[in-house]
Amino acid sequence: THSVETPYGSVTFTVYGTPKPKRPAILTYHDVGLNYKSCFQPLFQFEDMQEIIQNFVRVHVDAPGMEEGAPVFPLGYQYPSLDQLADMIPCVLQYLNFSTIIGVGVGAGAYILARYALNHPDTVEGLTSSIPEMILGHLFSQEELSGNSELIQKYRNIITHAPNLDNIELYWNSYNNRRDL
Ligand code: BEZ
Repeated sequence: THSVETPYGSVTFTVYGTPKPKRPAILTYHDVGLNYKSCFQPLFQFEDMQEIIQNFVRVHVDAPGMEEGAPVFPLGYQYPSLDQLADMIPCVLQYLNFSTIIGVGVGAGAYILARYALNHPDTVEGLTSSIPEMILGHLFSQEELSGNSELIQKYRNIITHAPNLDNIELYWNSYNNRRDL
């Protein structure tokens, strides 16, 4: 786990695996209320993922103040905007000397990585959207997900392998665009 200073404050990130020459790094950005572990550990420790991730070094960014053991920011601290959080990513990549990434983001993290991709298109080889993980985050508590019980694995399997996953995504989008009652 490392921290780097950026124009918007310090950012912490954790690296797993060894850099593979000429391959992009997988860079993750978590959603609100989570950190890299609570957001991505279930996915990255999922058996079927091992074949994929062993081919890539992984960089898991924690949004400022979300890392384990982070102190509470002082009163009046101005939290960076999502665009500023995206602008912190080049400092991480520069520190690690990584030139290209595949972004994996959930919720706010997906926005941050999409913003980063728009600003630095040449450094992004792809963005993945994990609809199954977002839906699991909707169905279960973080505590339940971290436990990765048989029930969670069963639902992850059902959703990941659903033949109508594209339709599920449409329903999910409608839900997320719902009007306030
Ligand atoms: C990984 O192997 O990339 C990973 C391991 C634990 C938590 C999150 C990610």
